[in-house]
Amino acid sequence: MASSTTSTLSLAFQSLLFLIFFFPVDSVSQLSENNVEFIYNGFNETENNSTKLTLEGASIFKPYGALRLTNRSNGVIGHAFYPHKIQMFDKKNNSKNASSFSTHFVFAIHTPSPGQGGFGLAFTIAPSTKFPGAASEHYMGIFNSSNDGQSSNHVFAVEFDTVNGFNEKADTQGNHVGININSMNSIDLEPAAYYKGDGTGKDEMQLEGHGNPVQAWIDYDGANKVVNVTISPFNIEKPSTPLLSTHSVDLSIVFVESMYVGFSASTGGKASSHYILGWSFSMNGSAPPLNLSKLPIPEFESTRSSSLKPHIKILIAVLSALTIVLLGVLICFKMYRRFTQFEILEDWELDCPHRFRYRDLYRATKGFKESEVIGVGGFGAVYKGVLPTSGIEVAVKKVYRNSIQGMREFAAEIESLGRLRHKHLINLQGWCKRKNDLLLVYDYIPNGSLDSLLFDNMQTRQQGSILSWEERFNIIKGIASGLLYLHEEWEQVVIHRDIKSSNVLIDNDMNARLGDFGLARLFDHGKISHTTDVMGTIGYIAPELARTGKASACTDVFAYGILLLEIATGRRPLDTDNFILVDWVLEFEQLGQIIDVVDPKLGSSYVVEETELVLKLGLICSHRRPEARPTMRQVLTYLNEDDLLPAIDNRSSVDYSQRPDTNSRFLEIMSADSIRHLSFSIGGFSSSSLESGR
Ligand SMILES: *[C@@H]1O[C@H](CO)[C@@H](O)[C@H](O)[C@H]1NC(C)=O
Ligand SMILES: *[C@@H]1O[C@H](CO)[C@@H](O)[C@H](O)[C@H]1NC(C)=O
Ligand SMILES: *[C@@H]1O[C@H](CO)[C@@H](O)[C@H](O)[C@H]1NC(C)=O
Ligand SMILES: *[C@@H]1O[C@H](CO)[C@@H](O)[C@H](O)[C@H]1NC(C)=O
Ligand SMILES: *[C@@H]1O[C@H](CO)[C@@H](O)[C@H](O)[C@H]1NC(C)=O
Ligand SMILES: *[C@@H]1O[C@H](CO)[C@@H](O)[C@H](O)[C@H]1NC(C)=O
Ligand SMILES: *[C@@H]1O[C@H](CO)[C@@H](O)[C@H](O)[C@H]1NC(C)=O
Ligand SMILES: *[C@@H]1O[C@H](CO)[C@@H](O)[C@H](O)[C@H]1NC(C)=O
Ligand SMILES: *[C@@H]1O[C@H](CO)[C@@H](O)[C@H](O)[C@H]1NC(C)=O
Ligand SMILES: *[C@@H]1O[C@H](CO)[C@@H](O)[C@H](O)[C@H]1NC(C)=O
Repeated sequence: MASSTTSTLSLAFQSLLFLIFFFPVDSVSQLSENNVEFIYNGFNETENNSTKLTLEGASIFKPYGALRLTNRSNGVIGHAFYPHKIQMFDKKNNSKNASSFSTHFVFAIHTPSPGQGGFGLAFTIAPSTKFPGAASEHYMGIFNSSNDGQSSNHVFAVEFDTVNGFNEKADTQGNHVGININSMNSIDLEPAAYYKGDGTGKDEMQLEGHGNPVQAWIDYDGANKVVNVTISPFNIEKPSTPLLSTHSVDLSIVFVESMYVGFSASTGGKASSHYILGWSFSMNGSAPPLNLSKLPIPEFESTRSSSLKPHIKILIAVLSALTIVLLGVLICFKMYRRFTQFEILEDWELDCPHRFRYRDLYRATKGFKESEVIGVGGFGAVYKGVLPTSGIEVAVKKVYRNSIQGMREFAAEIESLGRLRHKHLINLQGWCKRKNDLLLVYDYIPNGSLDSLLFDNMQTRQQGSILSWEERFNIIKGIASGLLYLHEEWEQVVIHRDIKSSNVLIDNDMNARLGDFGLARLFDHGKISHTTDVMGTIGYIAPELARTGKASACTDVFAYGILLLEIATGRRPLDTDNFILVDWVLEFEQLGQIIDVVDPKLGSSYVVEETELVLKLGLICSHRRPEARPTMRQVLTYLNEDDLLPAIDNRSSVDYSQRPDTNSRFLEIMSADSIRHLSFSIGGFSSSSLESGR
């Protein structure tokens, strides 16, 4: 029974031993009271909480499994220690001999750029996990200037330093490995390097870098008091020859009974991120080798793009550059489109010297600003503008294109009209089309229209601004001269089609300037007026024009005649209660009292002969029969008194009012309530909008 019990106990004991010895990796084995062995193939915090290291300062576990001792802030300290105290002495012999120990770990020091990192990390065996008052920089969070070198520290450390400068005598290498006891003054040190397996010497290596982990081994032979320190690049097996093999290191006089093992790191003016990727340790034995394939792959802080692989960096740079360029192009294109939309020229447009760039007109009118509007009509608005290149003042008329038939014909017409130059014409400087808008550029005439000067409310005008007879006579002659140029003196006959007081603008020298010549026929009247076949403005329309819709030089002369009567009498061609100016004047003429119709605003300050001439000429020009009307050349000879005015055909008046068949349309229009506004333009292209342009 006893033997059976013993064997059962023995079996149970063996099973327990088996369990302990064949414990899976990533575990901690308390082999005996003072023999500790553990291995961290990475620091996955979810895997085993009980072996979680004690962290202090800046140290953290990264989610991907690395232990980061410091970040790249300046002057930070980080500690990470195995949480349990370890017996450091071999007690079996009741001696105070320090036990052998062995450790293997993989670290990575990440710097923003080579030579800029600091300061380093150290494998540390210390009596406590706390280092109150410890300094950063060269002290690596272990010592400070007051306790450095004191035996009461009981600290053994192997430093992996990347910065030189501490105590020049002993520590001249920036990139070095040193063995330290109670002090940052190393008892032995070497520039970081590893011995090659084939015995051909050693290769230097950089401790800091961009994602190149370093393997390190520290082996202490307690019996022979030898410390070996070995390093190698991550992908190279442990070199057989250690970098440092320091004899006579008696840790028995350094250590206390039980101590903590771990790491310390610090940054200073220079800063690196210090990582531990895996760690194994064994008291009185060789550290179990790390399974390198299980270690976390360092993922350095992406706050700096340098943590990325070079080809990814290049890719990102190229993509960013491309994006920026594309954005730039897009913005430029948008800006360009904004100004040049619909300025994409058709072939025929390239030959148009009078074409303006939309961009220039846009700038001239300050972006078609409300404050620049000098007149508004049914077609759109008129803006005052200053051409950016020449500084010339212009009036820009914005017309909706849908009221124009055939853009190409229109442009051809304007190109032709743009070449007309006369001092009594408002020169058409050019044009521009954009989307549905047509922009016409004219001379800017400051004083406004004849219409406004004749009829505007007296209160709104300054004293003495009534047109004197002299001015009126000058205007009459000016209009005649401009019209003659259009009818006879230019290479083509140009019919004005819309002569009326609001189409006569008055310049600074009180000279008449005739505007909007030749354009009326280009507009689609049907869309604007109920009178689809009539061009011109009610009150100025010759009877045959109302009947046939055919404009001619004679219909222009008719309208000019009405305009003469208007200027002399100061009354509109048509007025309320079926007032017809031409009939009214004719009545007085037949009574021999024509002078009585003269504008009362003139008082007695007019020249009787001239007024009589103007009134009679007005009647002759507005004769019912086109063939009875003079030409503009003849009109000028009468006005210049080079020729005598013919006798007035008395029948013209009778015909007017008593031949409804020929004037039916005219009369119909006149009686309609809707056309009481006398400046209403059938052509839809009236200069009435320029009335306020002064
Ligand atoms: C964690 O470690 C403890 C002892 O150190 C061990 O008993 C436990 O089984 C481990 N757990 C895992 C999941 O490895
Ligand atoms: C470790 O601790 C965390 C909480 O601190 C817990 O959520 C997790 O389940 C623990 N992991 C293990 C393996 O016990
Ligand atoms: C670095 O760590 C220190 C201490 O934990 C912290 O105060 C600091 O904000 C961290 N710096 C960065 C850039 O994360
Ligand atoms: C950490 O451990 C958990 C659970 O074992 C696993 O799901 C996760 O993938 C591990 N993380 C890493 C980075 O290995
Ligand atoms: C250390 O290991 C040796 C052989 O591996 C063994 O003889 C010795 O007893 C061990 N010492 C301790 C303190 O465990
Ligand atoms: C124990 O120590 C004594 C002297 O103090 C020494 O003679 C003996 O060899 C030691 N035993 C072992 C096992 O090391
Ligand atoms: C320590 O060990 C060595 C050899 O292993 C022995 O010679 C020495 O006496 C020991 N020291 C003590 C204090 O036991
Ligand atoms: C240096 O460290 C010791 C112990 O860690 C501490 O008591 C002392 O105050 C520190 N001195 C300075 C100047 O920080
Ligand atoms: C230390 O290195 C020397 C020289 O290579 C070697 O002979 C010795 O066995 C090593 N000791 C340990 C504990 O690794
Ligand atoms: C290392 O880890 C990998 C994956 O976890 C495993 O397949 C492999 O066998 C391990 N190697 C050793 C030597 O344990």
